Amino acid sequence: EEMRSLPVLLWLCVAACSSYPLDEVAGDKDTIMELLQKYLENYYGLEKDVQQFKIMDSSPVIKKIQEMQKFLGLEMTGKLDSSTMEVMHKPRCGVPDVGGFSTFPGTPKWRKNQVTYRIVNYTQDLSRKAVDSAIEKALKVWEEVTPLTFSRIYEGEADIMVSFAVREHGDFVPFDGPGGVLAHAYAPGPGTNGDAHFDDDEQWTEDTTGTNLFLVAAHELGHSLGLFHSAKPEALMYPVYKPSTNLAGFQLSQDDVDGIQSLYGSPPASSDVPVVPSKPSSPKPGVSAMCDPDLSFDAVSTLRGEILFFKDRHFWRKSLRTPEPGFYSISSFWLSVPSSIDAAYEVISRDTVFIFKGTQFWAIRGHEEQAGYPKSIYTLGLPVTVSKIDAAISDKEKKKTYFFAEDKYWRFDERKRTMEPEFPRKIDEDFPGVGSKVDAAFEAFGFFYFFRGSSQLEFDPNAKKVTHVLKSNSWFNC
Ligand SMILES: *[C@@H]1O[C@H](CO)[C@@H](O)[C@H](O)[C@H]1NC(C)=O
Ligand SMILES: [Zn+2]
Repeated sequence: EEMRSLPVLLWLCVAACSSYPLDEVAGDKDTIMELLQKYLENYYGLEKDVQQFKIMDSSPVIKKIQEMQKFLGLEMTGKLDSSTMEVMHKPRCGVPDVGGFSTFPGTPKWRKNQVTYRIVNYTQDLSRKAVDSAIEKALKVWEEVTPLTFSRIYEGEADIMVSFAVREHGDFVPFDGPGGVLAHAYAPGPGTNGDAHFDDDEQWTEDTTGTNLFLVAAHELGHSLGLFHSAKPEALMYPVYKPSTNLAGFQLSQDDVDGIQSLYGSPPASSDVPVVPSKPSSPKPGVSAMCDPDLSFDAVSTLRGEILFFKDRHFWRKSLRTPEPGFYSISSFWLSVPSSIDAAYEVISRDTVFIFKGTQFWAIRGHEEQAGYPKSIYTLGLPVTVSKIDAAISDKEKKKTYFFAEDKYWRFDERKRTMEPEFPRKIDEDFPGVGSKVDAAFEAFGFFYFFRGSSQLEFDPNAKKVTHVLKSNSWFNC
């Protein structure tokens, strides 16, 4: 029980690691001994006994050095060799490296799938938006691989309270000024448990020139969800900070996924991707779902000559050159883009895909999310009576974009960047045969393809008539 109320100290920089180069320290034998003693006491449970340290070859010390080398994946020499010294100087998490490596003692976890969080206050180092987005992205990393969903609240007590503080901040574990401890977090539970505190004496950054908030938050929130440390160097939950991690293409290791799924299981298949009952265990994700005759889509868009079919958290990506589409999670491509989107369309002349959900839309260019988004759909000139759009098509020849909502549509002039007057108009009047409501739509080869449920209509905009009736998944060669 006591363990639960201990915060997880993250990225404790043992001894002044950034201010002293290694060889300078190496010259001072007492400093090395002190450092080793602290390290073994703090992280490997070596008993505090100054005496035994005077004798380097005392067996408890050697045993502890070997234990540490084993955990950190080093050669178990039992000696203070250079690679051991190097690891000891890296910024790291302050939690011991012994004990249950993947979950906390007692396995505390949230006993519900809807977890709330609140950003109590902010650092001056970053804009509020940058902080919000780092925390959101860090939560999404975990949401992606579990049934958990996180909803933000703006007042009152949330399960996970995120705050920035300096020195003593009310939990008896004061921060230590610049460097040293960077953050700490508590395992799931009521009150302070589950909370994540960030040391505001650090220089928080969006990149890795300072301390990267997203990386630290993703690790911390792993603790807030009940994960302990991992001995796998590639894991996010490895205790040593890796600022070189590829931020744009950030991915959890299989070890992190196994750890969190041991607590919460995997994302629910039913609300996620429809699975054909007769083929429940397809070896390739998305393959059984894509051939489901009842498959419908949230949105469809072209992207640089390929077609993207969005469904819940995922999308299929179909190149016309290859028969089989690829299957990906939305957040593995674009971290800020939500799941279950409403609509998407590509403006080829701007090499941009716009993605809509509710009253907001995002802009992406290939893998890149464009700055300044999400924006409000009302900035496009849609009236406030529209709370979401169902589908959008951009006609690359005429440079016009059509927005469909309920039984009406609006037309946007991409050259003038304004909504055209005399809209909305009724869908069934201008697109005869299409019906009065659509789920998704895109343009290809001069045709408009409209999706509704498991059906797809090919519409010739010049002849103003439906030319083919297809299954929604007809592009997948099932
Ligand atoms: C932020 O909130 C925490 C927790 O309530 C508090 O300890 C800290 O002093 C606050 N920081 C600032 C900068 O107001
Ligand atoms: Zn940690």
